[in-house]
Amino acid sequence: MLLIIHKARLHNQDGLYDISIDDQGIISKVSSTTAGTGGGPTNGSEEIDARENLVLPSFVNLHFHLDTSLTMGTTRPNESGTLLEGIEIWAERKKKLTAQDVRERASRSIKLMAAHGTTYLRTHADVSDPNLTALKALFEVKEEFKDIMDIQITAFPQDGILTEQGNKELLEKSLEIGADNVGIIPHNEFTREDGVRSIDIAFELAKKYGGKDVDGHVDETDDEQSRFLEVVAAKTIKEGYFGRVTAGHATAMHSYNDAYASKLYRILKRAQMTIIANPLVNIHLQGRFDTYPKRRGMTRVKELLQNGINVALGHDDMMDPFYPLGKGDMVQALFMAVHVAQMMGKSELLNSFDLITTNAAKALRIDHQYGVKKGNPANLVVLDSSNEIEALAKLSQPLYVIKNGALVVERGGYETTINHGGGKDRFDDIGKLLFE
Ligand code: FE2
Repeated sequence: MLLIIHKARLHNQDGLYDISIDDQGIISKVSSTTAGTGGGPTNGSEEIDARENLVLPSFVNLHFHLDTSLTMGTTRPNESGTLLEGIEIWAERKKKLTAQDVRERASRSIKLMAAHGTTYLRTHADVSDPNLTALKALFEVKEEFKDIMDIQITAFPQDGILTEQGNKELLEKSLEIGADNVGIIPHNEFTREDGVRSIDIAFELAKKYGGKDVDGHVDETDDEQSRFLEVVAAKTIKEGYFGRVTAGHATAMHSYNDAYASKLYRILKRAQMTIIANPLVNIHLQGRFDTYPKRRGMTRVKELLQNGINVALGHDDMMDPFYPLGKGDMVQALFMAVHVAQMMGKSELLNSFDLITTNAAKALRIDHQYGVKKGNPANLVVLDSSNEIEALAKLSQPLYVIKNGALVVERGGYETTINHGGGKDRFDDIGKLLFE
């Protein structure tokens, strides 16, 4: 036995539990316990008192841009608040990228996310840069931080696959040198025809390089005519790529008519696709061309769930040309999501953490080994709240984070400690990681 967590509350279960973790980092026992007991004999194992708080599987940030993260202050500000100005500013900034610059900002971003309970991350790396500086630096970061974060890297053609000669080759090169997933951005291609062709290219490459998953930015616009999601879903079905395709943002869905949305739900479900909403960023970027009424612009989280489609959340950006705020906290992203989607019923709130836990794990295809259950790797977060509603109301920050049985984050008083790479990083103010 390596570690025992005493007196934990679990999602959707009454009572208190002790969680035992063996020396391989696997949950070996989840047993009922009672308040006030000492926890029983521990045979010298390390012990954590959960203090009758909620213990959840550690969080998943399914959509994030580590390469742009924390560039605020090194670029001109995005005054219009539009995605288009964000892309323009990033195009200038990315010409100045160095490996060290990417590594340093990505490292701080990962520590912030870990401190807030995330141990699974899927990040995009912009591969429109001929030197692939960000991608190569993120390969190093992925290796360096594997003790606190499982990272997947999507090769993301930010400027489109067909908008410039050489972009397709850069995407292919990225997969050749080890990117995990193939990215697309069909609504950013010059024409609808090019958008459709870019989807075909992504699937061709996904298959050519050993069956990579497809992880797209799809229809991130308020234009109700932007309908690439149906093309991605149809392609997924035709290629038999069930459960292996995610579409991030999908904000145009907010503006579709209900008859069309109803048709779309059917094919998304059949394709077993995951839709990733990015509530922090899209509530800020969308509706910028509206006067009043102003559309919220987030994809239809509530209705997608009601129609049996898998939905998860991403943080997307943090302090960069696309979003000037954020602190790597998936509970904060969830807090925004339940407001914007109007998911405030009691059971909706109690189950809302699925969006940053089990639903996202399903998209990563790790659901068979994810969750607070005997036999699963111990990837856990001990919150400072007794249930999900309290955690949202308080924007709970974890007391402890456990990664493969190891205690990687400990919060005590005003200090948070991150145990990584054989050393300890202590932060008396977690905000320093943001503003360093
Ligand atoms: Fe994104």
